[in-house]
Amino acid sequence: MERLIEPQHLQLAVMASGRGSNFEAIQEAIEKGQLNAQIKMLISDKEQAPALLKAEAAGIKAYFIDPCKYSDKAAYEMEVVKKLRENNIDILVLAGYMRLVGAVLLNAYPRRILNIHPALLPSFPGLQAQRQAVNYGVKFSGCTVHLVDDGVDTGPIIAQAVVPVLPDDNEDTLAERILVEEHKLYPRVLQWIAAGKVFIDGSRAIVKDG
Ligand code: GRF
Repeated sequence: MERLIEPQHLQLAVMASGRGSNFEAIQEAIEKGQLNAQIKMLISDKEQAPALLKAEAAGIKAYFIDPCKYSDKAAYEMEVVKKLRENNIDILVLAGYMRLVGAVLLNAYPRRILNIHPALLPSFPGLQAQRQAVNYGVKFSGCTVHLVDDGVDTGPIIAQAVVPVLPDDNEDTLAERILVEEHKLYPRVLQWIAAGKVFIDGSRAIVKDG
């Protein structure tokens, strides 16, 4: 069993394609002194992503990197890696980043990329997880923070939070209930990492809190 990362003040980068509410929750936890970290930059693959404006408003460097400007995914990710390296990033936090991470990023930051997914993995990976859960008829769903590997929403699970799925739920009401938990879980996991409380045991992540 090995420690994921030694206790330290984490230098984070966030990648987001949309709204950016998880970015805001993480930044808020930092400002409240609940998370020993700093968000050094936000990168988006979408020019219109509200997350970019939210980062700028918080005084955080915000970069739009247009995947269409590069010959392929590898070239695009090389540009992302360049920015991350320039800023000495320890952990890359995916928060509503709507692309699959490719080999260039994964090899540059092995076990250093986190994702949050709005379902209890391994159930309902991929897109529209909340709709999948409602349609399936599960009675509980939630969110998962995991390390990113080369699969779709696979990779060692660090933590999950559970919410009930109510009889009248639709994907929006369920998404709203899950989001409340996402905003608590992501900063909490990051603080466990900053405190050196996350360990890797084979293919599993284990949190030793306390
Ligand atoms: C969240 O539901 C997250 O679980 C999923 O994408 C959504 C991002 O929301 N991966 P936001 O952009 O952080 O508000």
